[in-house]
Amino acid sequence: MVKLKNIDFIILNNQRMYIFVIILPMSDNELKKMVDQLAWQVELGADESTDNSPNDHFLGPKEGIKQRELGSNTPSRKITNIDLLNINQHKRNNGNQLERAKNIADSCKTLEELVKAIRLFEDCPLKKTATSTVIYDGSIDADIMIIGEAPGAEEDKKGLPFVGSAGKLLDKMLLSITKDRTDCYITNIVNWRPPGNRAPTAEEIAICKPFVEKQIKLVSPKVIVLVGGVAAKTMLNKEEGITRIRGKWYSIVTPDTKDEIATIATFHPAYLLRQPSAKRKAWSDLLKVQEKLRNI
Ligand code: URA
Repeated sequence: MVKLKNIDFIILNNQRMYIFVIILPMSDNELKKMVDQLAWQVELGADESTDNSPNDHFLGPKEGIKQRELGSNTPSRKITNIDLLNINQHKRNNGNQLERAKNIADSCKTLEELVKAIRLFEDCPLKKTATSTVIYDGSIDADIMIIGEAPGAEEDKKGLPFVGSAGKLLDKMLLSITKDRTDCYITNIVNWRPPGNRAPTAEEIAICKPFVEKQIKLVSPKVIVLVGGVAAKTMLNKEEGITRIRGKWYSIVTPDTKDEIATIATFHPAYLLRQPSAKRKAWSDLLKVQEKLRNI
């Protein structure tokens, strides 16, 4: 069976609307994408469509009205069993995605292997809309590991974390404790840019988390700095906001070696760009990092 898709072009010209429809064969990948989109819309609560049958845009306005009067366009429909089957399949796939991420991270023995594996990983939905896979910048022998939230537009373009305006402020923050990028290993909770810079979902975070945990194990830094609420809540398994979490020492324990790594959270530089008055607190957090490194 050939599955078909149609593409509608709507062109407005002098108050008139022209609609062109092109019918093309649809690949399995495109069909899966449509099912994913449907599942996503259902998750958002859109569980009814307004048109049950396609509109024949080639009919003139009169025939179109006649056709609708004849009842070929029922006004709305409920989600069918087929839709539910597809949605459940989508959910099952997500469960597998998480398992696959864990297995892949487990199987990598070196950072080089892990970087290659993350680049080849196709199971995070964010990868479909991102341009680059963003993994890390800095030094793999660094004492400090900085973990942010997700790549933004600049990072997606360049394939490196923290290279946009927030990254420039991060560089200045590091300089304030006499460090630079080469003294740090800089990464993010998710490896692909969420479309429109939205926050990553719990599912996207869960899929990417095994990769961050494995980087911690392989780099084995002396101190981890979590920048922003998403990184702090994800890595410390906390519900509270960053204002409560920041500025205190915690431990992240690596799963097999059971090494305890001193970890602190602070404000995200993107937040500090909007709220410069919070910079004082962020600086005091960084002074704690400097002090800790002197004493380890
Ligand atoms: N914000 C982040 O959390 N990470 C980046 O890499 C860029 C902006």
